[in-house]
Amino acid sequence: MRAIDWQDDAVVIIDQTLLPARAEFLVLRQPEQLVTQIQRLAVRGAMALGVAGAMGVALGAVRAREQGRDVLDAARAAAALVSRARPTAVNLAWGTARALASAPDGVDAVVATALSVRDADIAANRAIGARGAALLRGARRVLTHCNTGALASVEVGTALGVIGHLHRQDPLEMVFAAETRPLLQGARLTAWELGQARMPHRIVVDGAAAGLILSGAVDAVVVGADRIAVSGDTANKVGTVAHALAAARAGIPFVVAAPEATIAGDTPSGADIPIEERDEQEVLCVAGHRVAPPGARARNPAFDVTPADLITAIVTERRVIPLGRSDTGVSAA
Ligand code: MRU
Repeated sequence: MRAIDWQDDAVVIIDQTLLPARAEFLVLRQPEQLVTQIQRLAVRGAMALGVAGAMGVALGAVRAREQGRDVLDAARAAAALVSRARPTAVNLAWGTARALASAPDGVDAVVATALSVRDADIAANRAIGARGAALLRGARRVLTHCNTGALASVEVGTALGVIGHLHRQDPLEMVFAAETRPLLQGARLTAWELGQARMPHRIVVDGAAAGLILSGAVDAVVVGADRIAVSGDTANKVGTVAHALAAARAGIPFVVAAPEATIAGDTPSGADIPIEERDEQEVLCVAGHRVAPPGARARNPAFDVTPADLITAIVTERRVIPLGRSDTGVSAA
């Protein structure tokens, strides 16, 4: 069961909005359908979005061939549509660009590129998991945010891949999964993955994390990323920067696990990262029920930026990049 895959010239995703209550798959045959599902977070997470971007272009090309339309035009139109579906995760535009680059070679080349993006994701995640675990060797109690596991990628995941690798080397004492308001990717998805992997875990409300870290209950924080600026400033799910501040105060490592594709060469610093602002209803309601008083309004930034000076290191499939807090545990290059 993969979060996203390609079958019979269609994209197949697991509808993550229904997890963990139900596992339902959606078969998407048009780029427009994929955009809708990306925007409602049925498929989500930076690496899965990279694959979705590439497969979205493949959908456009395949449908154009079936209908006798110009393949290159259709691939361009699909790339433009899909790459704009969500603004922060740079992997989405990266994936569409990869697939579009092969469009002049025809439909089969676009599909082959989309499949290679999928397969490269799996290999990259395995490498990130091993390298991140080597960096954090000895950490027994780790805290993570949002969902960065197999559901956020094709297999394995990034930060959760590191945590899984650490656990296989030497069983972890505890994984703290911050619930990740407003859409609860931590409580719904990460807890589900940790349960499947039989790893000891506790869900904590986002506001509990800083207190836990300062009380000495956490040895390391490891998170994923949606866009890493050239400066090292890192956008990830809203709430991440609070964990980084607490980790800095407590003197424990704060590690970002992400593929090279998440490093955006055209984004100089955190101030240049576009932050997705989502519907305020996501904040005003809990599980579909309004909890805020009539007339109350909300802000709903989906991501925040952790400055490079609060990060110990970024771990990619190729390297460890030491950043501002590299005094707290960077041991491998
Ligand atoms: O809004 P989401 O659920 O797509 O946000 C996901 C995250 O912020 C993850 O931490 C990030 O994409 C890294 S997952 C490989």
